[in-house]
Amino acid sequence: MLRKLLFRQAPRAYRFLSTQSTLPLLSKCSVFSYCSSSRPEIPPSNSIEHLEDQPTNTISIDRSGLCSPPEHSHEPSSDSELVKHLKGIIKFRGGPISVAEYMEEVLTNPKAGFYINRDVFGAEGDFITSPEVSQMFGEMVGVWAMCLWEQMGQPKRVNLVELGPGRGTLMADLLRGASKFKNFTESLHIHMVECSPALQKLQHQSLKCMDEENTSEGVDKRSLSTLAGTPVSWHATLEQVPFGLPTIIIAHEFYDALPVHQFQRGSRGWCEKMIDVTEDSSFHFVLSPQPTPATLYLMKRCKWAVPKEVEKLNQIEVCPKAMDLTSTLAKRIGVDGGGALIIDYGLNGVVSDSLQAIRKHKFVNILDNPGSADLSAYVDFASIKHSAEEASDDVSVHGPVTQSQFLGSLGINFRVEALLQNCTDEQAEALRTGYWRLVGDGEAPFWEGPEEQVPIGMGTRYMAMAIVNKKQGIPIPFQ
Ligand SMILES: C[S@@+](CC[C@H](N)C(=O)[O-])C[C@H]1O[C@@H](n2cnc3c(N)ncnc32)[C@H](O)[C@@H]1O
Repeated sequence: MLRKLLFRQAPRAYRFLSTQSTLPLLSKCSVFSYCSSSRPEIPPSNSIEHLEDQPTNTISIDRSGLCSPPEHSHEPSSDSELVKHLKGIIKFRGGPISVAEYMEEVLTNPKAGFYINRDVFGAEGDFITSPEVSQMFGEMVGVWAMCLWEQMGQPKRVNLVELGPGRGTLMADLLRGASKFKNFTESLHIHMVECSPALQKLQHQSLKCMDEENTSEGVDKRSLSTLAGTPVSWHATLEQVPFGLPTIIIAHEFYDALPVHQFQRGSRGWCEKMIDVTEDSSFHFVLSPQPTPATLYLMKRCKWAVPKEVEKLNQIEVCPKAMDLTSTLAKRIGVDGGGALIIDYGLNGVVSDSLQAIRKHKFVNILDNPGSADLSAYVDFASIKHSAEEASDDVSVHGPVTQSQFLGSLGINFRVEALLQNCTDEQAEALRTGYWRLVGDGEAPFWEGPEEQVPIGMGTRYMAMAIVNKKQGIPIPFQ
């Protein structure tokens, strides 16, 4: 019941919030997992009452609550390294930071960011993603990549790039699924774009990589994935992936981790929401008294929208990093050929107020113990489309379509049927559950287990979009 409330009252709860236990399955025992749903609580409001723009109020940074700790205080502080770091930035800058800067530090600060030092996925972690739900997800993305490669004229050498590969499960399933198609796998050089050293290690294990011994100094270390005999390299950014080869880019749940700026409409127009420190040394939101640099992106985003879309909103989120990344990616595809597949949860339009924090499969306050919870925001697919089209005349954008339509058109129904032919009862249940979570909508009608574990389908909440070089025509399954 609580779960229903969650989706009805707070439809921004889009990550899979679940517990997970691993069962052996078919040929790929280690990856396929049985997932049951937990009961996430309704996300707490992010305490912004003091931001409400009463007509009598002027909007300004509320400095009365600024923390001014005594310079030589010997009070022991229980703040984490990241909290100290965030407070340090606010203090030394003499003012609040944007929500985007906060989000970026919280997720990817090189010392203490949420993603940097640990495995945050699965039952023991904080949330679960589609590749961890079922091997079929990576396999279907592999079908998409192979079809695009065909449309590209089966080039002999291709860069296959994954942005934010998590545990490396999607790529491992893609390679296992494609391993019989030697012409395809032999053409690939895999590039994993990952900022977290801990996750890079996990990806190395998932792809069953062996390191090459004879790499010369100054050249990135290369590994070979024994899953399909393909070379693999790791990079911190997309810009570091070598240019000059046709490229297929996969971004699953990557865009939602990119930092968003939040704006609130008041009597003075749009003001950026910022984060400051109160006297009792806790974080709180304030509004910027004057336009901030990110306002340029807000204006750009609003120009792409129809006036009606913006008029009804009192809050807007914009993601400059998503716009810039899309532009970089579209230019590369425009020049080198190939295409990109973006799958995430989001909207095909302006996003209002979607930023959420998830810790141990439960929603928590965004400002609570930063670094210990994932932060993610809806992806604005319309903005991605505009950014790509603006960046290159040589690319076309397709979708978004729902994940359910996307996986259905690529043949997930046939795949699940084939897997069901040869499995135990327990495995069959895991397969059906995983299938439903990927393509279903709401609670699984076939579920006979405990009510609190009913699998929730996310097939209409996640969307897929493709950006391809126009030479490739329309990609499957967007025709
Ligand atoms: C939500 S997880 C998704 C993981 C994986 N795609 C999946 O579906 O299981 C986000 C991934 O992006 C990585 N990441 C987040 N921000 C990044 C950045 N700015 N640069 C590179 N990697 C980043 C994280 O470390 C993590 O691997």
